[in-house]
Amino acid sequence: MSTGESDALVFFGATGDLAYKKIFPALQAMVKHGHLAVPVIGVAKAGWQLEQFRARAQDSCAKHGGIDPTAFDKLVSLLRYVDGDYKDPTTFQTLRKELGAAQHPAHYLAIPPVLFGLAVEQLGKSGCATGARVIIEKPFGRDLESARALNRTLLSNFDESNIFRIDHYLGKEPVQNLLFFRFANTFLEPIWNRNFVDSVQITMAEDFGVQGRGAFYEEAGTIRDVVQNHLLQILANLTMEPPPATDSESVRDEKVKVLKSVPPVEVKNVIRGQFRGYRNEKGVAPDSQVETFVALRLEIHSWRWQGVPIFIRAGKCLPVTCTEVFIHLRRPPPVYASAPPPNHARFRVSPDVAIALGALAKTPGERMAGTPVELMVSRHPSAQEMDAYERLLGDAMRGDATQFAREDYVEQAWRIVDPILGTVTPVSEYQQGTWGPPLADQLIAGHGKWHDPIVDVSKS
Ligand code: BG6
Repeated sequence: MSTGESDALVFFGATGDLAYKKIFPALQAMVKHGHLAVPVIGVAKAGWQLEQFRARAQDSCAKHGGIDPTAFDKLVSLLRYVDGDYKDPTTFQTLRKELGAAQHPAHYLAIPPVLFGLAVEQLGKSGCATGARVIIEKPFGRDLESARALNRTLLSNFDESNIFRIDHYLGKEPVQNLLFFRFANTFLEPIWNRNFVDSVQITMAEDFGVQGRGAFYEEAGTIRDVVQNHLLQILANLTMEPPPATDSESVRDEKVKVLKSVPPVEVKNVIRGQFRGYRNEKGVAPDSQVETFVALRLEIHSWRWQGVPIFIRAGKCLPVTCTEVFIHLRRPPPVYASAPPPNHARFRVSPDVAIALGALAKTPGERMAGTPVELMVSRHPSAQEMDAYERLLGDAMRGDATQFAREDYVEQAWRIVDPILGTVTPVSEYQQGTWGPPLADQLIAGHGKWHDPIVDVSKS
């Protein structure tokens, strides 16, 4: 049963890093846009009082986007704070009191994954789960088995329609635009299949390292951190069938359907890398085998995609920060050019947004020779654009689950990467500022080369 608009927002992990960097600024933006006017209760164990919590909110907004005086004052008037340990039932009893007349709170768990189960059980026992929603940060489990166990705990305290599993990539405009662009235009559909597409590449490159999150990264690695969630979500948007309707379940059914057609990734199709220097990071084992780079190949065994290899690549300390999808179309037959380059479609998700179609056009002159060109729509994120967290928290509080991962989706995504988690494949060192271990190039042999995104730093 869905519960209408949430009448309070509780966020656990209120003194943490995510709250500081993302959540307070998102809350201020929600207030500014008229999307938040209910009590916001922070919960954490820091020995703080409300005043310290408010000061943290102020510092966070000032450092991340700036204070909007009117919206910020309103936000401050909505803030409440509960200090306590998640193991202690009193914390949750105090929370229940603080919720007062609220009947349909949304509980947002911005806390380390090991605490998810505990917090959910305590919410249930204290009565705070009654009529409520729960919003869970990623990573959702660390493999298929633990994700199933977490789903069981959640489902024994909340109805699936009241569970919102966050993948902040789904809150990004360009990720939503992948779906929109495909299904709002006619020209892509005829070529969007195995008859025209030679291969698909998805690259998520970051030019920085683990930024002090060494201990977290040791538990995650690139496959868990971004492939199982962000990049498979991009893949689903890119390859799913058109939904019969745009309600959340029709859209999510199609995403699950396409993932069901993906066999588990084979060990022979994975290259893992680790940037030189990772082992010196705080919280990282001196002999760590955790990957900070991965390149992998998978396939979709469906009528539309059978035989089209999908190459996914992600890593830290690469030459640029950019997420981009590159679709190689099949080569045209030779008429004017003896070996015409394949056409392509390119979707850039970040840092700027671009949709481009690559073609060959005649070079001016006597000869019938060609020059590669791109027909491109491009823009820079505007100030009006909603931040992913603003969008997702607002959606969850309204009960719109479209941009959240459903139970079966999360389990399918884990099923696909489960055989390649951990150390079943070796990890090779790579130089910082390069595109990972050279072995990654062999993976793609036969389907051209990796398309390395170029970022114009003067514009970012
Ligand atoms: C997070 C990962 O989910 O996504 C990080 O844990 C990664 O390692 C981040 O850097 C990238 O997100 P964005 O929105 O900055 O591209």
